[in-house]
Amino acid sequence: MKIACGADHGGVDLKDALKVYLEKKGIEVVDFGTTGHESVDYPEYGHKVAQAVAKKEADYGLVCCGSGIGISIAANKVKGVRCVRAHDPYSAEMSRRHNNCNVIAMGGRFLGLDMAKKCLDVFLETEFEGGRHSRRVDAIEE
Ligand code: RB5
Repeated sequence: MKIACGADHGGVDLKDALKVYLEKKGIEVVDFGTTGHESVDYPEYGHKVAQAVAKKEADYGLVCCGSGIGISIAANKVKGVRCVRAHDPYSAEMSRRHNNCNVIAMGGRFLGLDMAKKCLDVFLETEFEGGRHSRRVDAIEE
């Protein structure tokens, strides 16, 4: 499995910690930045990660900003990307089961690392149910 990740200055610490967490599990991570705390604009990083997922250069995307809101909006502008802002494991699970989300967004100023790890694990481990949900996801894509 390959994960593309990216963040602005508000989400960089969470992104970096989750990157280490994923790599320790043996998951390949492609990091699109940012790398420090200097103020940057989240659309750039949301777009880069979303493009990588849309082009199938990565299986899933992880994006973080201060709230998880702006970067999720940016990621969702890329065709083929369905990004969920998930701050609880049930949202992360349902976003996979029913919506086939391929990018997860979390807020570095909202979420502790343990909860973020739980959300990410559930997101990556849950399969899309397909069936009637495929029709709805296809309609979104159209
Ligand atoms: C940056 O201060 C902040 O606005 C950004 O990280 C994010 O929370 C936007 O939605």
